[in-house]
Amino acid sequence: MSVVPYKDKGDPKKAQVAEMFDNISPKYDLLNHVLSLGIDITWRKKAVKMLAQDKPKLILDIATGTGDFAIEALALNPEKIIGVDISEGMLSEGRKKMKKKGLDHIIDLQLGDSEGLLFEDNKFDAVIVSFGVRNFENLEKGLADMYRVLKPGGKTVIVEFSKPRKFPMKQAYGFYSNYVLPQVGKVVSKDKSAYTYLPESVQAFPDGEDFLAVLKKVGFTSTVCKPLTFGISSIYVGVK
Ligand SMILES: C[S@@+](CC[C@H](N)C(=O)[O-])C[C@H]1O[C@@H](n2cnc3c(N)ncnc32)[C@H](O)[C@@H]1O
Repeated sequence: MSVVPYKDKGDPKKAQVAEMFDNISPKYDLLNHVLSLGIDITWRKKAVKMLAQDKPKLILDIATGTGDFAIEALALNPEKIIGVDISEGMLSEGRKKMKKKGLDHIIDLQLGDSEGLLFEDNKFDAVIVSFGVRNFENLEKGLADMYRVLKPGGKTVIVEFSKPRKFPMKQAYGFYSNYVLPQVGKVVSKDKSAYTYLPESVQAFPDGEDFLAVLKKVGFTSTVCKPLTFGISSIYVGVK
């Protein structure tokens, strides 16, 4: 049984995830930066650097949400970034942000499901995802479709929460994510479940070598895992 945000509802994970992100979208950026003490921004910047030598011109940002990873990817000087997400609420917040920053001509945010992308094979120079893959209903299907739309030789860069394993960070992070984060998240986002779903979904999600095994299974080669901040997050890279 996969971890879902609203355990009392019978809806499939994808519908529940879209509903949850629609609910929290107005407060998502604020909560992200406050709850991570701004570290999430440095994680995305580090991940983007993994593509510096590739100089990708056309980038697909999967599970783009409000578009923060797409904005960081502008450091690569691409011609276009397309962001896709299943939550219209998150996309609408993202589109407002792009317009305000004058980025809407280069970052295009579209409704789309990573488990059934509406793009042709071998289209993108790079495919990136930050804090999205953990929310997929079917991880293998999502990664396989990312592989399909990537050009041969192109790279995927994925950032996702992982599990710190060493004392005392393991204990400190456990306390923070199981007690502090759900309380603050509930008060600010007004969604009772979103910030209990977060630590539960992290616990259930494959990290490190386990995640690399899934990347390899769908076809990626030269796979690498780079843990960040005591292993709270990790960057994964794979080549088609
Ligand atoms: C935690 S947010 C991450 C947003 C953004 N990438 C960031 O770093 O802030 C996760 C996003 O994944 C999206 N998502 C979940 N499953 C998806 C799928 N199958 N296809 C596309 N987006 C998906 C959610 O709607 C949500 O906006």
